[in-house]
Amino acid sequence: MTGRPSTTDQRAGHWDTVYKDNRPDAVSWYQPDPVASLELIDVLELAPDSGVLDIGGGASVLVDRLLAKSFTDLTVLDISEAALRTSRERVGDDGRVTWITEDLLGWEPARTYDLWHDRAVFHFLAGEEVETYRDLMNRAVAPDGSVIIATFAPDGPDRCSGLPVTRYSVDELGATLGSGFEVVECRREVHTTPAGTVQPFVWVAARRTHR
Ligand SMILES: C[S@@+](CC[C@H](N)C(=O)[O-])C[C@H]1O[C@@H](n2cnc3c(N)ncnc32)[C@H](O)[C@@H]1O
Repeated sequence: MTGRPSTTDQRAGHWDTVYKDNRPDAVSWYQPDPVASLELIDVLELAPDSGVLDIGGGASVLVDRLLAKSFTDLTVLDISEAALRTSRERVGDDGRVTWITEDLLGWEPARTYDLWHDRAVFHFLAGEEVETYRDLMNRAVAPDGSVIIATFAPDGPDRCSGLPVTRYSVDELGATLGSGFEVVECRREVHTTPAGTVQPFVWVAARRTHR
């Protein structure tokens, strides 16, 4: 696809095709160990019973690693049923994990979460979708909750999975969160894809200060 999918069906079709056509460990964003995510979760000092939402979590092994760290309230949301099937089959039947197949742009969360985690999802959004994302994040994050968001850096790729992305500096990403969040840590990470290409990312971890 060269343009941006503009409906839920188009978005789901795009991502399902990607996950059906590629092995989970062959997609460019695959990482065997979500090191930056786990380090920033440590920085935020989350209790193991914290409600953690991995938004656009796909087939990431973050959920496995958090289960191994004794987290008990994990939710993985993704628009791709194929991606979540991969994760579900890998993790097995585990009552500590809730799987949600939804387009985040139309999702109505039924509860709040102590941590909103997004690696490489927000940067696909443009125009009004950015405001929709911010509105959802503000509703889904608990009053004393936190967020971790990672996007491609200004010198990162301008496309991923055939789709255009918006690249952010640390300051731009922090500003996107709005005045209700205080950035507690930011960093740059260079991800190496399974094909050996390097992709600079920026990461922001922030705590909610007020609504
Ligand atoms: C680049 S992948 C990153 C996956 C995962 N966060 C990781 O780090 O391995 C982007 C993910 O976002 C999901 N996604 C894209 N648009 C979405 C949307 N509107 N709602 C929910 N998930 C979406 C895709 O299906 C895909 O799994």
